[in-house]
Amino acid sequence: MPRMSVPIFKERKHSGDKLSVLTAYDYPSARAMDEAGVDALLVGDSCAMVLMGHETTLTITLDEMIHHTRMVSRGSENALVIGDMPFMSYQVSTEEAVRNAGRMVSEGGAHCIKLEGPPEIFGETITAIQNASIPVMGHLGLTPQSVNVLGGYKVQGRDDESRAQLMESAKGLDALGVFAIVLECIPADLAAEITAAVSCPTIGIGAGAATDGQVLVMHDILGWGFTKFTKTFVDVKSEMETAFSHYVSEVQSGTFPTKEHEFS
Ligand code: KIV
Repeated sequence: MPRMSVPIFKERKHSGDKLSVLTAYDYPSARAMDEAGVDALLVGDSCAMVLMGHETTLTITLDEMIHHTRMVSRGSENALVIGDMPFMSYQVSTEEAVRNAGRMVSEGGAHCIKLEGPPEIFGETITAIQNASIPVMGHLGLTPQSVNVLGGYKVQGRDDESRAQLMESAKGLDALGVFAIVLECIPADLAAEITAAVSCPTIGIGAGAATDGQVLVMHDILGWGFTKFTKTFVDVKSEMETAFSHYVSEVQSGTFPTKEHEFS
């Protein structure tokens, strides 16, 4: 099986095979996802919240994102590795954005990058990054780096005006040549309309079933999730708690370690 690449990823829109994407932040998880056949591993800036315990994604730095991207790229043999550009790594100037996207690739080992926001604001930046031979994935709808402007993590595109705006932005990103667009927390019927209107694959999260693929946050599917659109596929969190409490009670009762764990 050839490694997933940006051209193969794009082609899947036409073959009709849905794309599976998960966030990954470290080597062992990346290996497990890769072996399970996940198409793309997104080193998301959600790392700040789910792995590092921050309240928002705004506090993770480019160096921290590169650190996690390196772990994930080392763990992936077949999946596409997408590096998420953190807050303030691409907003200040086009030149800085290109340099920072380049670091995600050359230091982190990402194959491509993702950035949040509409073409009206980031069109020039996206073109410049693509001109540096770095494929770009767009991200529209609920864009967590704009949480302070949006006033919380809310479903977007519920009224006619914002629906029309999101459709325009998606078409604009598509015209710029992004290889895919993440649609986060928008009504399912709008996601379906956007998916039909653009030539690149759409990857939904809380956007219904009609998108060309799905992305979820790893911890959300393993028992740490609480939002409506996630699903616990295996409750690893409970399994971990069980293992940890067994360990505590066996250490306390003296049933661990036994002779078989000793060196002579
Ligand atoms: O950072 C992230 O995990 C993301 C996904 C939710 C799309 O951007």
